[in-house]
Amino acid sequence: IQETLVLVKPDGVSRNLTGEILRRIEAKGYQLVDVKLVEPSRELLAKHYEEHQGKPFYEPLVEFMESGPIVALRIAGERVIEGFRSLAGTTDPTTAAPGTIRGDLGRDWGLKVQQNLVHGSDSPESAERELALWF
Ligand code: GTP
Ligand code: MG
Repeated sequence: IQETLVLVKPDGVSRNLTGEILRRIEAKGYQLVDVKLVEPSRELLAKHYEEHQGKPFYEPLVEFMESGPIVALRIAGERVIEGFRSLAGTTDPTTAAPGTIRGDLGRDWGLKVQQNLVHGSDSPESAERELALWF
């Protein structure tokens, strides 16, 4: 059985959407394996987002992720990595499909970084790496 890392980003936590996001994950049939509230260090965020270092949205992204607590979830299920990415919807919340977390609950706030409520690992390699960082 596959596992993935889901993060409810600071916008999701501050908007009181953690329960709604977890409800969707559980309704889909995925198993909650572990959960914690984290205020990540810059070092953790730099490792988590190392693939984006040097991109124009990198600094605003790290600042956003430091702006408040994050809920980290370890979830399990058959093909859960791609399954959660599908539940989350595409990166830009304005155009993410209705029915998805980002499409139903997110929108563009005109800020320097997309505040899109959740993160989900994008491959088995990322999931293993990111779960080791956050748990
Ligand atoms: P994550 O699950 O958070 O990794 O989202 P993703 O896989 O859909 O996006 P990606 O890994 O490419 O980018 C990580 C995060 O950086 C996104 O979730 C957004 O918060 C932000 N981001 C990515 N691309 C852009 C962009 O082109 N512009 C802005 N403003 N923010 C971006
Ligand atoms: Mg990503």
